[in-house]
Amino acid sequence: MCGIVGYVGSEKSLEVLLGGLKRLEYRGYDSAGVAIVDAAGELHTVKRAGKLSVLADELAAHPMANGSTGIGHTRWATHGGPTDRNAHPHLGDDGRLAVIHNGIIENFAPLKDELLAEGFSFTSETDTEVAAVLLGREFRATGSLQEAFRRVVARLEGAFTLLALHQDEPGVVVGARRNSPLVIGLGDGENFLGSDVAAFVEHTRRAVAIGQDQIVTITPNEVKVTDFDGNAVEVEAFEVAWDAAASEKGGWSSFMAKEISEEPDAVANTLRGRVLDGRVVIPELEAFGDDVLAGIDRITIIACGTAAYAGQVGRYAIEKWSRVPVEVELSHEFRYRDPVITPTTLVISISQSGETMDTLMAVKYAREAGARAISVCNTQGATIPRESDAVVYTHAGPEVAVASTKAFVAQITALYLFGLHLARVRGSLSEADQAEYVAELLAIPAKISHVLESSESIAQLAKWMSDSRAVLFLGRHVGYPIALEGALKLKELAYIHAEGFAAGELKHGPIALIEAGQPVFVIVPSPRGSAEMHKKVVSNIQEIRARGARIIAIAEQGDAAVLPFADEVVPIPLAAPMFEPFLAVIPLQIFAMELATAKGLDVDQPRNLAKSVTVE
Ligand code: G6P
Repeated sequence: MCGIVGYVGSEKSLEVLLGGLKRLEYRGYDSAGVAIVDAAGELHTVKRAGKLSVLADELAAHPMANGSTGIGHTRWATHGGPTDRNAHPHLGDDGRLAVIHNGIIENFAPLKDELLAEGFSFTSETDTEVAAVLLGREFRATGSLQEAFRRVVARLEGAFTLLALHQDEPGVVVGARRNSPLVIGLGDGENFLGSDVAAFVEHTRRAVAIGQDQIVTITPNEVKVTDFDGNAVEVEAFEVAWDAAASEKGGWSSFMAKEISEEPDAVANTLRGRVLDGRVVIPELEAFGDDVLAGIDRITIIACGTAAYAGQVGRYAIEKWSRVPVEVELSHEFRYRDPVITPTTLVISISQSGETMDTLMAVKYAREAGARAISVCNTQGATIPRESDAVVYTHAGPEVAVASTKAFVAQITALYLFGLHLARVRGSLSEADQAEYVAELLAIPAKISHVLESSESIAQLAKWMSDSRAVLFLGRHVGYPIALEGALKLKELAYIHAEGFAAGELKHGPIALIEAGQPVFVIVPSPRGSAEMHKKVVSNIQEIRARGARIIAIAEQGDAAVLPFADEVVPIPLAAPMFEPFLAVIPLQIFAMELATAKGLDVDQPRNLAKSVTVE
């Protein structure tokens, strides 16, 4: 939801900004712009509607002056459509200062009225320009960028990360954050600011996460962090766990193709260091205290999008293994229904980015109401882990494609690990069962690799089906959230109407949708689990087949019962029933990606979406 990058150092701002924006483009891609103060102390701005490549083409055709101080922005529009005029940076002080912004300034209307009454004018429809013009007024009053900036942020309400520079103070970029992310990159004779570490990881892996309601000032040799009142704040640097190469496409046709290929590693890396002699011990939860965990009597999982479907899968395992009741709720629904929360309620948030505003607000709400909060997150230094009592990181590596794939399997891994950790602490599973489930988990990476190696048929199928108008997905038990995720992937990537249903619900309504030729994916549970459940899903297949549906069954290798009724069978390796989601989701991800590719769509940056949604 808008990517932000700032730089002070040598005369290479433009390269740093464009490189950073490229890595942040997943956050928004409807316009982009840069502002640079050149060696003569003059501010230059170029901004364009469209993807970053449009800005890059413009800069190639009409090169701009480079300089040692700059800010850059890639936008996901909130206030004002995606036009050149509404693109960031926005200017103040008669074009001498520039501001970029991520978030929404909720009180922009009264501030704008105040400035209009004083005779200031505006060129865009954005809330951001109000901050820029206000900053110009305060700079005139104080003569100091830092002081003026402090006055401005004190007046803003809502969510914002703001960066600003002024041509009269070259070598300085100021930034502030409230409810939106901002991270500092510490260099040698240069410093960086970014929405996340991807903005600068190519130049430095030493980073500092800025806390809520803090202001940062960077110069080439100094980094100063204060609160909104100007009091100095102690900061702690961390080392980014991955390097720039991890966020490059590296020869793959898309980030999504690369990220799907990394799914075995995403699971293996999330397991690493958390399994000991057939038992799960998550070191990050030790600080939490076993007695506290053992006393938890209810778990609520909150998340949005794909992460929420990972939560739905995790629910089956955590509840079964630990015998603690688990509910899963969309973060934005949870907060507004006055949920029952007690000190023995545990809230587990799941977020790849760690910045999703709906989830962040739900975590804050739950903690204020007395719950304990654990975050399952893929991004170091992100806000949600900082607002939680403990964090279980998924080690999927940077996920750049907007629609989530490898983070999903890593999230399920983390939840299953949590379920086994909790079961051990509560004594709800025998040692033998724990060892068996641990062995199942450890075997998953190799089984996913096997699914990936045999994915050619699903790619073919996607090509044949590229003119489908609607696709349905059915699943039961842990296969149900996988059906929902399969449908979501197809909607996100291929813009095809797709719906997932619990197979048992079919006869209560959705069966009316079935007509001749309607494609239906069915995730068939293993016959080696509940024979009864398997039999029921096979009956469901027969019911829709009888009404003309075209059945694509995702079924365990050797499941002969589905063969007579399925038009296509996508076989997946044998796994205990609870572990099937790891394998069944892969063909569905590949199907959506290949079908979108066959339609000529951009699978990494689908229309209207953003990877990190930092508005509510
Ligand atoms: C956005 C993305 C989805 C993602 C969801 C939650 O809507 O487009 O792909 O699943 O946010 O993101 P999070 O970072 O919280 O996992």
